[in-house]
Amino acid sequence: MKIAIDGPAGSGKSTIARALAERCGMTYLDTGAMYRSVTWACLRDGVDPSDLAAVADTAARSDVRFVREKDGSQRVLLDGEDVTAQIRTPEVDRSVSIVSAVPAVRALMVERQRALAGEGDVVAEGRDIGTVVFPDAEVKVFLTADPRARAHRRAVQRAGGDAAAGVAAEVDPEQERAILEGIERRDRIDSTRETTPLRRADDAHLLDSSDLTVEQELEQIMGLIAAAREAG
Ligand code: DC
Repeated sequence: MKIAIDGPAGSGKSTIARALAERCGMTYLDTGAMYRSVTWACLRDGVDPSDLAAVADTAARSDVRFVREKDGSQRVLLDGEDVTAQIRTPEVDRSVSIVSAVPAVRALMVERQRALAGEGDVVAEGRDIGTVVFPDAEVKVFLTADPRARAHRRAVQRAGGDAAAGVAAEVDPEQERAILEGIERRDRIDSTRETTPLRRADDAHLLDSSDLTVEQELEQIMGLIAAAREAG
């Protein structure tokens, strides 16, 4: 079974996809981490993100792997080097939308994502899972949330808290404003790019998480999975 979780930055996809994979005993595939790793490789090699041919070449040469730890967490290796932390830096945030808009990069990533998933049971999160990567996914969810709610979650995360787990943290309003601007900029680029822009698949279940707890979201999706299993 394939489960597709798509949506904009900060909509809570990672938390939900990871929890679903764990509950259902499925493999978790973080496709954003793949685009982030290619972006990091460009920054590392001094490749200008707007140089399409050089970016495509960097993507083709990059070897991105996921390693699952005993505690269930996942590490990302780029050419054998652990880049789990580096791919979440503001530098990568700033360039990843440009890199992921390159058609050759997208074609390659989609191919690699399908190969990684194979015939197995996978929960994949991204922007184009339900529309392009796994158009036949048995369960498709398009997760959204108000941009302010998304910026607040990210700011809490950056300050060491975890809104989903109820761990509070002191948030700097300046930083939260900057995060909101970054999210709105990324939404704009991701949803207006020419190659497979972020959009909801016609058969995806729309879930607005602004006022839902993680547990409520999970309950709704588990309901969809149960229905798909019955139907299948
Ligand atoms: O989910 P994320 O924030 O880690 O994704 C980082 C960027 O990668 C995001 O700005 C858009 C891009 N992306 C994409 O274009 N397609 C995907 N399937 C996943 C991510």
